[in-house]
Amino acid sequence: MFKFIQLQQHGDSRGRLVALEDQKEVPFPIRRIYYMYGCEKNVRRGFHAHKELTQLVIPVSGSCVFVFDDGQSREETLLDDPAKGLLVEPKMWHEMYDFSADCVLMVLADAHYDEADYIRDYAEFQEHVTR
Ligand code: TYD
Repeated sequence: MFKFIQLQQHGDSRGRLVALEDQKEVPFPIRRIYYMYGCEKNVRRGFHAHKELTQLVIPVSGSCVFVFDDGQSREETLLDDPAKGLLVEPKMWHEMYDFSADCVLMVLADAHYDEADYIRDYAEFQEHVTR
């Protein structure tokens, strides 16, 4: 269920660097970047799917648990590697929890923010994926 993109790390004695280029490491045109930080450990975020949007989620600092639900089953994975991006394709219900205090989740998206692209109701999501 999880598709990860391994990002090349350029490292030396000074530290490490990851570079992301539109339609190269990131397999879509980057139209928007946002990041989440300062999330409390005991909060759960997300609770939606997208109709069309594709995103790449990179934990640039810290960690959190990322949950995917395709309408039939639910799986979760730990995001804790800044050199590994998780692809979030359309029609995947997702939730995030167990944020470390230093967690910064950077998200690259292939479209501008559009509330009309969100499915925020789980019953509606199930209807959407089964039709
Ligand atoms: P929200 O969708 O509730 O976050 P999540 O579902 O990941 O927990 O987004 C929080 C707020 O930020 C909400 O008011 C919408 C706004 N927002 C933007 O204005 N632009 C964006 O690109 C995103 C992702 C959110």
